[in-house]
Amino acid sequence: MPGIKGPSEYSREPTRHPSLVINSKQPFNAEPPRSALVTSYVTPVDFFYKRNHGPIPVVDDIERYSVSLNGLIETPKELTMRDIRSLPKYSVAATLQCAGNRRTAMSKFKTVKGVGWGISAIGNAVWGGAKLADVLELVGIPKFTAATKSGGKHVEFVSIDKCKEENEGPYKASIPLFQATNPDADVLLAYEMNGECLNRDHGYPLRVVVPGVIGARSVKWLDSINILANECQGFFMQKDYKMFPPSVNWDNIDWSTRRPQMDFPVQSAICSLEDLTIMKQPGKVRVSGYAVSGGGRGIERVDVSMDGGKTWVEATRYQKPGISYVSDDTNSDKWAWVLFEATVDVPHSVEIVAKAVDSAANVQPESVQEIWNLRGVLNTSWHRVQLHVGHSNL
Ligand code: MTE
Repeated sequence: MPGIKGPSEYSREPTRHPSLVINSKQPFNAEPPRSALVTSYVTPVDFFYKRNHGPIPVVDDIERYSVSLNGLIETPKELTMRDIRSLPKYSVAATLQCAGNRRTAMSKFKTVKGVGWGISAIGNAVWGGAKLADVLELVGIPKFTAATKSGGKHVEFVSIDKCKEENEGPYKASIPLFQATNPDADVLLAYEMNGECLNRDHGYPLRVVVPGVIGARSVKWLDSINILANECQGFFMQKDYKMFPPSVNWDNIDWSTRRPQMDFPVQSAICSLEDLTIMKQPGKVRVSGYAVSGGGRGIERVDVSMDGGKTWVEATRYQKPGISYVSDDTNSDKWAWVLFEATVDVPHSVEIVAKAVDSAANVQPESVQEIWNLRGVLNTSWHRVQLHVGHSNL
């Protein structure tokens, strides 16, 4: 829609918090210092990682902004922000995690391709908006539909931003129609983040939030929604964000052999300590961090080890203050991370390790070696940090 979706060149970048660690300037990719993640259950917008494949678009005429619904539906429709805001509003606490979170650590084992990320390409926000299931009803697709009469089985989200991987075409992704029309899957067209209007970095004026699924499917700056017979053929669905075995390299890769990654696996990381922390003398240390699993699975346990993984203690888990966390309980936020905490005595230099177990008893793998993949996605290996006691001559 010309004139509405304004210039998206790099010269009009938003201002951002100075403490963000910038992993790439153009496109802008940045993560907060890890300690910022454990200061609150809901990550402040300023400290929420920003992951982009192209310049941040500018939508400056909200009155003329609309989302078109096309494809295998009887009557295509244009929805304005007013139409979307007039649907029931839901607030969903959901953790967004980039599939490339912890990529830098994977590349230390063996080189991988992609933007380097520490452990903070993750954040937990309360997203406000309309349920996609309600939006799709407006074009005659009932709740819990796996296939439309005309053969639609996937819902594609197309963005406004342009990416070089798409030959300067828009970023796009899709999810199965059954997930999109299932109100319990909580897929949102979000216009708010933590109670504030979505900002430009995170998809103003409207983005998709697909809880429990790698961040790549939560398309920002939504332009259109297409009902398709097959999944989206875009670069980021077909030639990226897939999990290959360690044996696959750039000479023998066949992208068609693997499915686009959707749910993320169980993950945890220690945020209260850096990769190497120096303590002057032995004493008590607080070990805290985040743990999360995909597909709405809760966190059943977080184990912390003081001896590189030989023996373990269980950490306490929490989400909202004053409510004890029980995984998969209706009072817990099923799409959101838990924060964990353990206070341990540190008598001498140690390697501290964390691993989480989800409600399906999935456990993080011990080492990066067995999950190494050439794109460096889904590094969920045990998170290890070194604590050096004594004066350092390191
Ligand atoms: N949507 C668009 N339009 N363009 C993008 O580059 N990046 C995706 C997803 N949606 C992206 C996008 C990826 S890879 C991630 S991890 C999340 O947005 C990051 O969302 P955030 O920047 O709000 O944290």
